[in-house]
Amino acid sequence: MCGIVGYIGKKQAAPILLEGLKKLEYRGYDSAGIAVRSGDGEVRVVKTKGRLSVLEERTKGGTLLSGTCGIGHTRWATHGEPNEENAHPHKCTDGSVTVVHNGILENYRELREKLLASGYVFRSETDTEVIVNLIDYYRKKYGQGPVDAIARFMTRARGSYAVAVLFNEFPDEIFVARKDSPMIIGAGKGEMFVASDVPAILSHTRTVYYIDNLELARIRADGIRFYNIDRRETVKQPVTVDLDERAAEKDGYEHFMMKEICEQPRAVRDTLHAYVHGGKVEFPCPLPKDVTQLVITACGSAYHVGATLQYVIESLARLPVRVELASEFRYRDPILPKGTLVVAISQSGETADTLAAVREAKARGIRTLAIVNVLSSSIAREADDVLYTYAGPEIAVATTKAYSAQLMLGYLLAVELGRLRGTVSPEDVSRYLAALEEIPERISELLNESEEIQRFAAEHVNVHDVFMIGRGVDYTVCMEGSLKLKEISYVHTEAYAAGELKHGTISLIEDGTLVVGVITQGSVAEKTASNLEEVRSRGALVVTLGFDRMQEGAFFPIPRTLEPFAASLAVVPLQLFAYYLSVQRGLDVDKPRNLAKSVTVE
Ligand code: F6R
Repeated sequence: MCGIVGYIGKKQAAPILLEGLKKLEYRGYDSAGIAVRSGDGEVRVVKTKGRLSVLEERTKGGTLLSGTCGIGHTRWATHGEPNEENAHPHKCTDGSVTVVHNGILENYRELREKLLASGYVFRSETDTEVIVNLIDYYRKKYGQGPVDAIARFMTRARGSYAVAVLFNEFPDEIFVARKDSPMIIGAGKGEMFVASDVPAILSHTRTVYYIDNLELARIRADGIRFYNIDRRETVKQPVTVDLDERAAEKDGYEHFMMKEICEQPRAVRDTLHAYVHGGKVEFPCPLPKDVTQLVITACGSAYHVGATLQYVIESLARLPVRVELASEFRYRDPILPKGTLVVAISQSGETADTLAAVREAKARGIRTLAIVNVLSSSIAREADDVLYTYAGPEIAVATTKAYSAQLMLGYLLAVELGRLRGTVSPEDVSRYLAALEEIPERISELLNESEEIQRFAAEHVNVHDVFMIGRGVDYTVCMEGSLKLKEISYVHTEAYAAGELKHGTISLIEDGTLVVGVITQGSVAEKTASNLEEVRSRGALVVTLGFDRMQEGAFFPIPRTLEPFAASLAVVPLQLFAYYLSVQRGLDVDKPRNLAKSVTVE
């Protein structure tokens, strides 16, 4: 949430900052701003409400701001409404320090009171203005320079932050610090880049330093010095990032989301082939032998993956699995007996609640395994073991290909756990892996039929309420399909376990209510079909997805696969339905209102 960029070198900073922000706009898009130090030493700030394009227009593509050092920000509001005043960068009261910030300062009220009492003046409602004034306060009070002032702020701050700071007194430097919000530095030749995510700097350099939690850095065009919170200098090695720059471009598609939906066969195949060799699942980290239960923890769509895996792992490996929302897990004093393996699933690897859940488990001496898409992200680095998904950079706010890659990796986990526990025979390993090998092709077949879904979406463009029902794995697909529809099409929809509908929710069914039934699980297929009849007889318009037609009315066939893996296919028409509905309603598919990719605040 919120994107940060910075540049120091010989080139004009503003166009580079705007270009970087464009790549990070998925992190927040309610306002944006840049600060550039001009030749006379003054730091000029321009900020605008709304999308980045407004800022680009206001600064004439950055040409109105001259200077070779600057910082920029695209915002997802936490404190204070999205307006120009609350947009970043923020200056301290006398204008000598300028800050952009990602995260939440939890004790900002108390600190604000203290700063007010010391004569500081606040122009915005943001916690960021507290940060910039606090840094200025420590700089003046102790007079020991910028690293000391930032380190003192870090000691005093509660919450999460990544900050980039300009001091008027130190015109040739950018200072950065972080805790629980991502921040990287890209090193070029005689120039340095700062960003909250790698895609922002890929067109300039692939040499990247990952700043660790509670670390800070002092960046000049020709070098970087790193410090820990005790102000002691540390040594850090750069990493060469191996990412195709085009992976983060639209590549001819109208929206990132459609591009990413279409990339699913590749994402799923790459993830499968990363871990299956010679007919065996081979993970780089051995799974603990003595595991007695799994606790899967995640948020949003990644949680839905966990919900599917609960069914799949319990069925294949006969191992108890609990799935917990990370935001609940971290605060509810969970019971984690010895032998528990906590599996954290996250595309970004930066989701605040999931990261906190990993820390909570580790603090209790419980082993943690992360399933993560973004290389070297916080969760990937902090968990005891990490298995990467190979979806590539996901830019659209609504996840699709990362979700599918997570499912694939989860199936492999189920097969391998089953093999280790003796519940999956060698013949079954072969059978399961052969079925998984076919999933990418089956997804492609579904994508080839997408016009049917497009037509269906056009017929229902004004739909108000949609219920999605299924049992077992099908129920978890409904959870994901329903979330997709809510987040990008703004349709009220609910996912229900089909058997639960008549315990209350059925009262909401009236003439014309759209009810989508997902039916891929043979043992409960007839039961869900009966539940659909119950709503049809109360006026609902029923649509089914499944291997076989079991109902009158609209039907979207799902190519056949082994039942435990059906979620990977059944979800595709639901993703497409949400996408086409959003397009036909004229909505911003890739940047839905109020949302941002990578939720780094709780
Ligand atoms: C929905 C969506 C979110 C994320 C959730 C977790 O389309 O993208 O619900 O799944 O915010 O994010 P990660 O996977 O980055 O931890």
